Amino acid sequence: MELLLGKSHNAQNIRKSILFVATTLVLLGIVPLYCNYPSFMQHQHKDSSELTPPYHAEDVEIKVSEFKECDIFSGEWVPNPEAPYYTNSSCWAIHEHQNCMKYGRPDTGFMKWRWKPDACDLPIFNPFQFLEIVRGKSLAFVGDSVGRNQMQSLICMLSRVEYPIDESYTKDDNFKRWRYPSYNFTLETFWSPFLVKVEEGDSDGPTHTGLFNLHLDKFDEKWTTQIEDFDYIIISAGHWFYRPSMYYDNGRLVGCRFCQLENITDLPMTYGYRRAFKTAFKALNSLENFKGVIFLRTFAPSHFEGGEWNEGGNCVRKKPFRSNEITLEGVSLDFYLTQIEEFKVAKREGNKKGMRYRLLDTTQAMLLRPDGHPSRYGHWPSENVTLYNDCVHWCLPGPIDSWTDFLLHMLKKEGRKSYQEMLELEQGTKKST
Ligand SMILES: *[C@@H]1O[C@H](CO)[C@@H](O)[C@H](O)[C@H]1NC(C)=O
Ligand SMILES: *[C@@H]1O[C@H](CO)[C@@H](O)[C@H](O)[C@H]1NC(C)=O
Ligand SMILES: *[C@@H]1O[C@H](CO)[C@@H](O)[C@H](O)[C@H]1NC(C)=O
Ligand SMILES: *[C@@H]1O[C@H](CO)[C@@H](O)[C@H](O)[C@H]1NC(C)=O
Repeated sequence: MELLLGKSHNAQNIRKSILFVATTLVLLGIVPLYCNYPSFMQHQHKDSSELTPPYHAEDVEIKVSEFKECDIFSGEWVPNPEAPYYTNSSCWAIHEHQNCMKYGRPDTGFMKWRWKPDACDLPIFNPFQFLEIVRGKSLAFVGDSVGRNQMQSLICMLSRVEYPIDESYTKDDNFKRWRYPSYNFTLETFWSPFLVKVEEGDSDGPTHTGLFNLHLDKFDEKWTTQIEDFDYIIISAGHWFYRPSMYYDNGRLVGCRFCQLENITDLPMTYGYRRAFKTAFKALNSLENFKGVIFLRTFAPSHFEGGEWNEGGNCVRKKPFRSNEITLEGVSLDFYLTQIEEFKVAKREGNKKGMRYRLLDTTQAMLLRPDGHPSRYGHWPSENVTLYNDCVHWCLPGPIDSWTDFLLHMLKKEGRKSYQEMLELEQGTKKST
């Protein structure tokens, strides 16, 4: 059955599913799905014996069970012998540094898992279904190279159906526009690792990773002026905030992050991170004609062990963690909580004018995947480049392909969810989240 997908969006279907939602909400108690605090922090652990059989990508249809309110972001990785769904030979969109197969990664087990939410099933991505839903629409990625990583995963997962054509308007690879001709679906990536206006103050800096001047209150117009007509925006930020930065507010230097200058206050990383999200969300909430959906893709933790990234740290595990084996902590937890807080503030503000905010809450799933990074398989061993072991990005194919499962699931639910929000807005019963 095709509930609320694109064209089948008629009133009768909507009414039916609203009724359905109402029922499940009563049954489950009102659990705000997309904006609750991380349920995985007080996680119940289940036995791995209750694995369901692998999903067949070809028999994916929308099942009634998918419409139950279920926290799809809380779960475990379970074996999936059918993965991967593309290879380094079948998909040309893999960025060199994430092409772990090409660069000789010997183990392949890391590709053979799928995400199983505790309370329901998350179907494996169906590229045909996805392209039907996004026909005539446009999706923008705003963020850093992990965002690009996600876009390339999406292109590879869609490659069974079609490859996009390059319609970029600039030679700068950080701003790419792709279009799927048969579906008139546009995919675009905007490079904005700090989300706000930035200048590189010093290309070297105290840790040789540059020193950046961040204008925490100023929009990064490279994306904020281009984004209004998109149907979907996936925004994310994270790892660049580790880098030494000078923090400017209203043109005035207010402090820095690890600039190691005596007369300048060292502020925590989350100071810049919080302000950057505030400003980015402000930019989105100030769009006059935006009709789309905004997804915050939450922080994907890195997995350096045995040292920091520049101290020989590496990620050599070959299997996912189970959820009782690791907890989100330290800076990753700070980043996660900070962005969720800012998301909630922005959502509350945005909801007043009918803006739709969704949480693509990948943090817990990715926390469990120390095995999914390129490590040293992002380049030839003989290459004398200053590339460290990469425990930040994700091999393709690899665990990041599951983000397409999450995204498709959310798009399928979107019609119903936004109709519900519209009703609530009209009735003025909107709660604070
Ligand atoms: C893909 O990876 C294999 C090793 O698994 C390698 O032999 C081959 O050259 C790679 N192909 C491309 C196009 O990168
Ligand atoms: C393709 O989609 C865009 C919106 O993304 C729309 O403006 C344009 O008219 C569409 N073109 C065709 C041929 O349908
Ligand atoms: C900090 O000290 C340096 C050198 O001592 C000076 O050039 C700079 O202007 C000072 N910055 C501030 C904000 O006072
Ligand atoms: C890399 O550096 C090593 C030692 O410095 C040298 O022997 C080797 O030829 C270099 N390889 C390349 C591809 O430049």
